[in-house]
Amino acid sequence: MERAQETGNMGDRTGTKTRSGSDELIFFVNGKKIVEKNADPEMTLLTYLRRKLGLTGTKLGCAEGGCGACTVMLSRYQTHTKQLLHYASNACLAPLCSLHLVAVTTVEGIGSVARKLHPVQERIAKAHGSQCGFCTPGIVMSMYALLRNNPTPMMADMEEAFQGNLCRCTGYRPILEGYKTFTEGGCCGGRGQKNGCCMSNVNGAQNGASEKNFHSFPPVICCAIDMYNELISHIVFVPLLPLYSTQTLSKDRKPHSLCFHGERMTWLQPDSLDEFLNLKWKHPDARVVVGNTEVGVEVKFKNMVYPVILAPTFIPELSAVTHAEDGIVFGAACTLSHMAVVLRQAVESLPPHKTEVFLAVLEQLRWFAGVQIRNVAAVGGNIMTASPISDLNPVFMAAGCKLTLVDKDGSREIQMDDGFFTGYRRTALQPQQILLSIHIPYSKKVEFVSAYKQSPRREDDISIVTAAMSVTFTPGTDVVENLRLSFGGMAPTTVLAKKTANRLIGRPWGEELLEEACNSMAEEMSLDPSVPGGMVTYRRTLTLSLFYKFYLTVLQKLRLQAVAKGQNQDDVVGRPIMHLSAMKQATGEAVYCDDVPLYENELYLSLITSSKAHARILSIDTSGAERCPGVVCFLFADDIPGSNTAGSLKFDETVLADGEVTCVGHIIGAVVAKTQLQAQRAAKAVRIEYEERQPVITIQEAIATQSFYQPIRTIQKGDLELGFKHADHILEGEMHIGGQEHFYLETNVTLAVPRGEDGEMELFVSTQAPTHTQSLVAMALGVPANRVVVRVKRMGGGFGGKESRTTLLSTVVAVAANKLKRPVRCMLDRDEDMLITGGRHPFYGKYKVGFLNSGRVVALDVTYYGNAGNSMDLSQAIVERALFHMENSYRVPNIRGRGFLCRTNLPSNTAFRGFGGPQGMMVAENWMTDVAQSLGKSPEEVRRLNLYMKGDSTPFNQVLDQITLDRCWDECMSRSGYQQRRIAIDLYNRQNRWTKRGIAVVPTKFGISFTALFLNQAGALVHIYTDGSVLLTHGGTEMGQGLHTKMVQVASRVLGIPSSKIHISETSTNTVPNTSATAASASSDLNGAALKNACEILLKRLEPFKAKNPNGTWEDWVKAAYFDRVSLSANGFYKTPDIGYDFETNSGRAFSYFSYGVACSEVEIDCLTGSHKNLSTTIVMDVGNSLNPAIDIGQVEGAFMQGLGLFTLEELHYSPQGVLLTRGPGSYKIPAFGDIPTQLTVSLLRDAPNDKAIFASKAVGEPPLFLASSVFYAIKDAISAARAESGITGPFRLDSPASAERIRNACSDRFTKLCPLAEAGTFIPWSVQV
Ligand SMILES: Cc1cc2nc3c(=O)[nH]c(=O)nc-3n(C[C@H](O)[C@H](O)[C@H](O)COP(=O)(O)OP(=O)(O)OC[C@H]3O[C@@H](n4cnc5c(N)ncnc54)[C@H](O)[C@@H]3O)c2cc1C
Ligand code: FES
Ligand code: FES
Repeated sequence: MERAQETGNMGDRTGTKTRSGSDELIFFVNGKKIVEKNADPEMTLLTYLRRKLGLTGTKLGCAEGGCGACTVMLSRYQTHTKQLLHYASNACLAPLCSLHLVAVTTVEGIGSVARKLHPVQERIAKAHGSQCGFCTPGIVMSMYALLRNNPTPMMADMEEAFQGNLCRCTGYRPILEGYKTFTEGGCCGGRGQKNGCCMSNVNGAQNGASEKNFHSFPPVICCAIDMYNELISHIVFVPLLPLYSTQTLSKDRKPHSLCFHGERMTWLQPDSLDEFLNLKWKHPDARVVVGNTEVGVEVKFKNMVYPVILAPTFIPELSAVTHAEDGIVFGAACTLSHMAVVLRQAVESLPPHKTEVFLAVLEQLRWFAGVQIRNVAAVGGNIMTASPISDLNPVFMAAGCKLTLVDKDGSREIQMDDGFFTGYRRTALQPQQILLSIHIPYSKKVEFVSAYKQSPRREDDISIVTAAMSVTFTPGTDVVENLRLSFGGMAPTTVLAKKTANRLIGRPWGEELLEEACNSMAEEMSLDPSVPGGMVTYRRTLTLSLFYKFYLTVLQKLRLQAVAKGQNQDDVVGRPIMHLSAMKQATGEAVYCDDVPLYENELYLSLITSSKAHARILSIDTSGAERCPGVVCFLFADDIPGSNTAGSLKFDETVLADGEVTCVGHIIGAVVAKTQLQAQRAAKAVRIEYEERQPVITIQEAIATQSFYQPIRTIQKGDLELGFKHADHILEGEMHIGGQEHFYLETNVTLAVPRGEDGEMELFVSTQAPTHTQSLVAMALGVPANRVVVRVKRMGGGFGGKESRTTLLSTVVAVAANKLKRPVRCMLDRDEDMLITGGRHPFYGKYKVGFLNSGRVVALDVTYYGNAGNSMDLSQAIVERALFHMENSYRVPNIRGRGFLCRTNLPSNTAFRGFGGPQGMMVAENWMTDVAQSLGKSPEEVRRLNLYMKGDSTPFNQVLDQITLDRCWDECMSRSGYQQRRIAIDLYNRQNRWTKRGIAVVPTKFGISFTALFLNQAGALVHIYTDGSVLLTHGGTEMGQGLHTKMVQVASRVLGIPSSKIHISETSTNTVPNTSATAASASSDLNGAALKNACEILLKRLEPFKAKNPNGTWEDWVKAAYFDRVSLSANGFYKTPDIGYDFETNSGRAFSYFSYGVACSEVEIDCLTGSHKNLSTTIVMDVGNSLNPAIDIGQVEGAFMQGLGLFTLEELHYSPQGVLLTRGPGSYKIPAFGDIPTQLTVSLLRDAPNDKAIFASKAVGEPPLFLASSVFYAIKDAISAARAESGITGPFRLDSPASAERIRNACSDRFTKLCPLAEAGTFIPWSVQV
């Protein structure tokens, strides 16, 4: 009440009439007008759409603006410019209250399967650009918004539009391919050019991928559209916006002046600058919110509470752009996208010497976040956030920009220099002041300006170091008159390297200046070795490298030489039978677990997790949390009615911690409340006291303390001693391979619904393992498994992450639902999911390899250490698979491999596509590269020499029959044009000192079968209904890999009926019991065979009726059988024959068969920054007789891109205390659209049938992932060329991933020598290699 009065007073000062309650928020969603009287200032548009309007097509992937799953289009009428703006925006960051007089278009608003798909939806579906489909609505809306503004965009516009969208499944190429048809000259729009439409042209230009296989399937048919009509037909409501935006809503009120009260927050939206300044005077601590991209993240992830928010969106002065004599003045609320448009226009119309600063700002904006963020984020927000890694502040400082600050008593202009930033995220602004505008000056005739951003990923990433430099010369000379060097990421604020700059003034721009600059900067730009963010040597080196780049650029400009611009790419893949759910996924109609409508009495659960890696729990205090609104109950170990034991193959875990925690993120308890926000707030208010114990975090610590799980596995063959004796050379080495986060777009989610009788419980879970979930839930509830039904419709990605770890959440949710006898739901936030659920095992490999002068390897002794974490989970099988792949594709006659499972205090690591195989093979390729480098031979020559041939046998004594490795190798070498490329690379490297190119060809051989024998089984259930329609159920789950599509294809072929008569609804434990998890790439093989079995049983039953009525139809036979009382339902079963390996005797068949493939990749590295470009990749993959080439190619590309992330990009940072520091897309970078190799060609090996699997096909999900290591080894090849320039040759250590930091540090040169590593043990690092 007090608060309402306080804010109600806003009218007294501003002339707005005092109002005691909240106003009306008026906006439109998909054309429908909505009047919201109680808009909650804390509610986002996403929550409103999903929870209040039931529009679940818009997805939640991260809640921090980093994935694009929540993209919608917003349309806003700008009264001052009289323009209607349409732009893509992240619904997860858009405050509901900010939407006054805005039209929102969601994926449901533009088309549906029943009504009609919008072309944007249809083309992504038909181009196989949707696998799990969780990212699809967001991508559809980004494309839609682009087309709304530009119906015939260029390819580059499209790539820019997708900078803020992530997809973890497809590898991006099919999405670009599908949408390329919208670009200028891309597609006839179905109006039929001479040779038909490009998308229906079966001989069509699948550049570089015109595989025969592609053509034997029905073509994609492009819909005929009139783009303009299609687009505007969905937005008939938009013309109303100007009307609403300009009219006065009531007699006393201005149209945009609003006030909304929430539980903890008040939203004030003033209508004029005066009103705004008065409010800021009255509420000096109020936050000014424009884009909410900073404040939204602070509230969500840093638990900040801002009682008063001031939203100046409708104040003309803050959005104004004024062209002054000496530059351009931007109002502080100008969005970054708008600023870019204005600057681009200026660059086009002004003389080049005036626009150096503008170009530098544009360069930074190009790499600044994604379009969705730039469309709403304001320039003032970036300045005022005062982040030390802001991308724009260094440019503004180096350029000498001026800021206008204003309060109700007047305004003042100040220089934006280092006096402006007074500390970490602090500025010289007084609390009652606001930033009105920024003046960006024209550059002078003799001034050069450049800006640089170095981040782990090129696109949409936060920088590691960002820099801007401006130099002015005495006219007619190369003597420095003025120099400003500004850096972000090197101190708590953006800083100017003033000492260095001063030293260089008056000096000519030459080698001596460079030398002086580097020495001075190495001293001035120092960093504490324990600094947050780590990478100390790299960051320091970068300041020198970036200056060197500036030095060269200026030198060139002084010599009037133009700088070459980057180019871009394209090329095609994929076709045939579309993923069955693709259309629904593209329209947002596909139902994922959290899209199940809310039950009336449903509650929400939030987990309480440990903040310590290893500790005894002394006390738990819930008193603060109990006072939080909406709390219903707490759950701790004592509340579990059944068993608190959990785990995977070994039951060594708890459902809820019992007295002890063994990792940060260990689940201690849970809070159940009425809403998600209430549950999450209460969970954070629970206080836990710990008695800490010494944790073991890294593999090296585990080795030092001998902290291992048993057993320690060994595979040995031949005579190791003799092998080393006969070797001409022996070499030792080591390698660390970092872990990887699954980053499925849909996080873990469970909805548990008690059925009210006999302890029955129904669970909707996003899991790859319904049976495992069922049994653990039954154990926790203390009921038999037959009371628990687990249902899985589809997952928004799994990749192994939902094989065993999903039970961490589903057991707790089930216990809560059981206790309260009400439905309970929980979908983990991205940061919780990353913290709790573990990922791919980090590995450390040590090896000793013996080889002949020719390069032939004769002996290998290798030891693997996998960081298993705080429980066994599936780690034993994972380390075993690493051992099964320790020789990759090479014959090694004398070999021993040992595998240790390190027990550490990290969240238990788990299955991830490849399941230890990639780590095993990665070490193999490392010693193979070492052998070649030590002999001075090409690695490809040595690899080819050692490649397995038909009849060879593996270290585990499996004879390789049906081997196609050599065919894949030779085809890849010729398709990639390896020899010509190598010659061109050598030439390039001779001509370029600071960029180098490299190439590598890497094979893979991947064993197919679960290594745990009993899992190699599957069941299926097939019903034929009397109308002839068929319902299939099998044990596999759909996570985007197209399993259900393939299974329908199998049934269609066996039953001899069209696939349109066949349907798969879901996977459930009450239809097919005792299933193995959908994993090990074997699900098509296993479930396909089980389905075939069931279908054959039914066919046999139908045979007499077919014989009686040979001219009848399928429906006739089905009906006849029914009336004859023949069962039309059958179970099928399959178990893989002839497998079973025994470690004790090193005998028995470990795998049913192997999948093979070879990839050739070429890269270019920037030796000064460590960045790299993926220039080209050629993959040849043996998938047998592909069941569905479109899906298989999608799997190859998706796996390759995931491997690319693993080996070159994705880095999990843990503190020395075991706290995961990278918990969202902002800090953890998976590959984005811009990371696809410029040329990517995937071909499936022809005429390679496999007699071990259904219809001669082969497994494809995991095997291609390792082929991305070709990019890693191409980078290593390029680094070797750089090192050779400094006279360093021979093997060197490069750990995975080959991040920019590692690449830069490995390219030893004069700059790296100036920034040596601090001595280990003398400081506490920010993060450790686990
Ligand atoms: C996914 C994502 C990616 C990002 N990528 C980048 C990136 O690549 N580079 C980068 O530098 N940043 C990045 N950011 C940070 C952020 O987008 C920018 O700082 C943005 O410019 C903030 O603008 P906003 O309007 O959203 O600010 P808001 O969140 O609305 O406000 C931010 C702060 O500025 C203050 N403020 C705003 N306007 C004024 C004013 N006129 N007077 C006084 N105070 C004011 C507010 O009080 C608040 O404290 C990213 C953020 C996200 C979520
Ligand atoms: S959920 Fe909004 S960007 Fe990820
Ligand atoms: S299809 Fe893009 S995340 Fe799954």
